[in-house]
Amino acid sequence: MMMMHRWRRSGDFIRSACKSLSSFRQKHNSMSPSVTGFMNRYESKVNTFEPNAWSHQYRSFGSSSSSSALKVKRNPLFSSLESKDVSFFKEILGERNVVEDEERLEIANTDWMKKYKGCSKLMLLPKNTEEVSQILKYCDSRSLAVVPQGGNTGLVGGSVPVFDEVIINVGLMNKVLSFDEVSGVLVCEAGCILENLATFLDTKGFVMPLDLGAKGSCHIGGNVSTNAGGLRLIRYGSLHGTVLGLEAVKANGNVLDMLGTLRKDNTGYDLKHLFIGSEGSLGIVTKVSILTQPKLSSVNLAFIACKDFLSCQVLNHLDGVRNPVSSSENFYILIETTGSGETYDREKLEAFLLKSLEQGLVSDGVIAQDINQASSFWRIREGITEALQKAGACYKYDLSLPVEEIYNIVNDLRGRLGNLANVMGYGHLGDGNLHLNISAAEYNDKLLGLIEPYVYEWTSKHRGSISAEHGLGVMKANEILYSKSPETVS
Ligand code: MLT
Ligand code: ZN
Repeated sequence: MMMMHRWRRSGDFIRSACKSLSSFRQKHNSMSPSVTGFMNRYESKVNTFEPNAWSHQYRSFGSSSSSSALKVKRNPLFSSLESKDVSFFKEILGERNVVEDEERLEIANTDWMKKYKGCSKLMLLPKNTEEVSQILKYCDSRSLAVVPQGGNTGLVGGSVPVFDEVIINVGLMNKVLSFDEVSGVLVCEAGCILENLATFLDTKGFVMPLDLGAKGSCHIGGNVSTNAGGLRLIRYGSLHGTVLGLEAVKANGNVLDMLGTLRKDNTGYDLKHLFIGSEGSLGIVTKVSILTQPKLSSVNLAFIACKDFLSCQVLNHLDGVRNPVSSSENFYILIETTGSGETYDREKLEAFLLKSLEQGLVSDGVIAQDINQASSFWRIREGITEALQKAGACYKYDLSLPVEEIYNIVNDLRGRLGNLANVMGYGHLGDGNLHLNISAAEYNDKLLGLIEPYVYEWTSKHRGSISAEHGLGVMKANEILYSKSPETVS
């Protein structure tokens, strides 16, 4: 009993917390991997182009001459925008949805972290698939490069132009097309904001299988295009499992209807999987069919501290609990459980935490007593990205590693960088996904030279992935061989 007192809890745990949690979480400043991606029609290392003509226009903070991002050159085979192009787009989209306004373009050209900036002179806002198709067909015929854009909340420079690409923002394509209250299958357009979908489903007694800090801005199409992982992956699995179908438009304007709602369909190749995580390189996702989950009546949230990283891992393997566990003063873990038996679920979580305390794996912890407290816990977790952005320059890496290794790279890097920067790690312990962040007063090439390619080599040596859930974007497009064999890339 004495041990139980260390859990600063009261009788009531969180019930049906999802709705309130969603509205509490940051709407505009949070971050996640949610861009639609880039149409990868630029060739890197093209020698025939005169780089100086464009290099001033493409800003990539934190890049050194060794960074692949800066080696991307504009492909001279692409045309430049002409007034006849703008006239054509106005004809098919209407004046309002052809954006030439400098202020709006400034925003659309710049990524959320303000690290990447293109110089597009045009943003198009299609209202439906047919318009996307017409735009792409025309751009293909004129060799105009394009970049698809969703909520522009990504972290790897994938949702903004690299140079002068035409921005195709799907934000106006934001309708829920159907929802089946028996199967839980939701069909919607790509520009639906994740939080709006969550709110819609809440009224139906369902939840999205995906949740992100950037839910207030990111689009489902972008989530799918980047195969966003987020905060519920350990519970509901990845989008490769929950997305049942897609509609996408290829660069030549052809519409691929893969918008099935079936749980089983073995008729040939399952092409939708190629689009999930393809970051716009194969086409623009315009519609999504996704399997949602019944909202469970009991939600419990614990914020705990562990002594060391080893404790986190040991806790991760305790019976009946698949979620990760954190360590004490230096390590913190947020565990959310959902279930249908309020009393049973509460007792189970308490028993788990008590046992962890007794075993010395956990040194302190709090179980949320109500929705407000739960929201404040989530705010801490979801606010990390924003806090780091405000702290100054931030080099961000999104790595998948064997769970037992994920903290070793943080320690290694601390030794390597000394007092040049603060190194911190957070992420999704249960998924083996580390967000390695290096925070410094300002971006500089010396620091970057110490970080890259060291981080990529370290990850590769441990058979990890250099892009767990944020995508490659322009930041890592040329680093793919650290995680994939040449045969699979070529
Ligand atoms: C998160 O887990 O908070 C997001 O992936 C964003 C980030 O890595 O900062
Ligand atoms: Zn994450």
